[in-house]
Amino acid sequence: MSFERSLYFNLPEVQKALHANRTNLPYKWSMCSPVLNYSETDPKINILPILKRIVKNHIPVWVLSGDQDSVVPLLGSRTLIRELAHELQYKVTVPYGAWFHKGQVGGWVTEYGNLLTFATVRGAAHMVPYAQPSRALGLFSAFVRGSRLPNTTRPSLMNN
Ligand SMILES: *[C@@H]1O[C@H](CO)[C@@H](O)[C@H](O)[C@H]1NC(C)=O
Ligand SMILES: *[C@@H]1O[C@H](CO)[C@@H](O)[C@H](O)[C@H]1NC(C)=O
Ligand SMILES: *[C@@H]1O[C@H](CO)[C@@H](O)[C@H](O)[C@H]1NC(C)=O
Repeated sequence: MSFERSLYFNLPEVQKALHANRTNLPYKWSMCSPVLNYSETDPKINILPILKRIVKNHIPVWVLSGDQDSVVPLLGSRTLIRELAHELQYKVTVPYGAWFHKGQVGGWVTEYGNLLTFATVRGAAHMVPYAQPSRALGLFSAFVRGSRLPNTTRPSLMNN
């Protein structure tokens, strides 16, 4: 995966599409550039207060988790989002149930009103778009369109 990543992000056409490296830097792209001074403590910062502030400003938040992610297991993320919803006094508006993609179960989803959603992606590991590109795109597209995840197989079967 690391090899594919450095190969991919160094392709001139990929950089062009991402509007990256427009100054023709004299060195290759690599993960975690030493140019930036990363702090070891940053990965451990609790981001729930930030999510809370975003949601309180009426910006929708979807938290997603691959259901085969052994790095950040879905049960932890699901519990934290449930606790966040509880703290914000958001009620479950759509109980945990399957969402569909291309005639199959894409994952499971819980909605807390229009602002907070927790979704899993079936068969996805830690790198969700890498493990399940089609389902990941379906989920991301629904989020960007501001629509709900399909709770029936019908629309996608008709569109195909
Ligand atoms: C930037 O682009 C140049 C080619 O124009 C390439 O040689 C270099 O490796 C790239 N650097 C990064 C950091 O992407
Ligand atoms: C990186 O940041 C740490 C703490 O913020 C600082 O102590 C250290 O000197 C910095 N290192 C460089 C190379 O800038
Ligand atoms: C599916 O979602 C629609 C609204 O998007 C809702 O009216 C309907 O009751 C839901 N069906 C099921 C089975 O949850």
